[in-house]
Amino acid sequence: MSTATQIRTRPLKPGFGVEILGVDLRRADRETMAGVVDAFHRSGVILLRDQVMTPGELTGFVAEFGEPEDHTLKEFTVEGHPKVYRLSNRVVDGRPIGAHNDGVGWHTDYSYKQEPVMATMLYAVEVPPEGADTIIADCVAAWDALPPERQGELQGKVLHHSYQHFMSTREYGARELSEELKRENPDVYHPLVRTHPADGRKALWPSTGTVIEVMGVPNPEGLDLVQELVDYATQDRFTYRHKWRVGDILMWDNRCTLHTGTLFDDTRYIREMHRLWVRGDRPY
Ligand code: SIN
Repeated sequence: MSTATQIRTRPLKPGFGVEILGVDLRRADRETMAGVVDAFHRSGVILLRDQVMTPGELTGFVAEFGEPEDHTLKEFTVEGHPKVYRLSNRVVDGRPIGAHNDGVGWHTDYSYKQEPVMATMLYAVEVPPEGADTIIADCVAAWDALPPERQGELQGKVLHHSYQHFMSTREYGARELSEELKRENPDVYHPLVRTHPADGRKALWPSTGTVIEVMGVPNPEGLDLVQELVDYATQDRFTYRHKWRVGDILMWDNRCTLHTGTLFDDTRYIREMHRLWVRGDRPY
């Protein structure tokens, strides 16, 4: 156990992520909140358990980290709280109230934007007793574990990301985009190896779903390389698997991680999560 600006923490996995202990976010003073933000930037993932938060309070909490980001699709935002997006399989009066299985498949959020989101926060409102874990990969550890020759081969490679491709091919919730969404989400190009602006640490930063090519490497070789790197970075030795409890807040740094949701028996159980994003900057 360690202290960081007055807060107590314990690692989620040695060297990756921390659980913050003894903090009720609704009552946290400025110093405690600064410690929480600091823990996030240093460790890549933070967990706070047993929180009771309204959508307004969640929005206020993520604003401690930066500007809350809008969601690409608006249909499942919480009424009156445009920054809070519902993930759920609940259906009310014949209509789904949230996106179901939205984050299944290894990815980093908003990678199809010029400025992908810095952080993703999930708040557990209702969770199934089994399944629906969220797994987060430490892409700094994955990068650091590569031999220098391999790092040299990968450094400088650029990935072409396409939202249109992602949305038309994804396993859950595939759809053709409206002209407006196409206009708002043109293709973008990001480095395969990303530098963390806080301290310069490097992260292997591939992603499945949105990447359609590695610049200068013809397909299928290019996409095989991306898949190989995602498989490599998401091995158990680099990942933390979160088993949800109601009231959990899990927040991760998209600049140095990949994550995936996992399936659950949606014929028996309901899952409802609130997701918020924090605005990011251009990867380099
Ligand atoms: C996400 O990828 O944003 C959600 C992951 C999850 O639902 O566990």
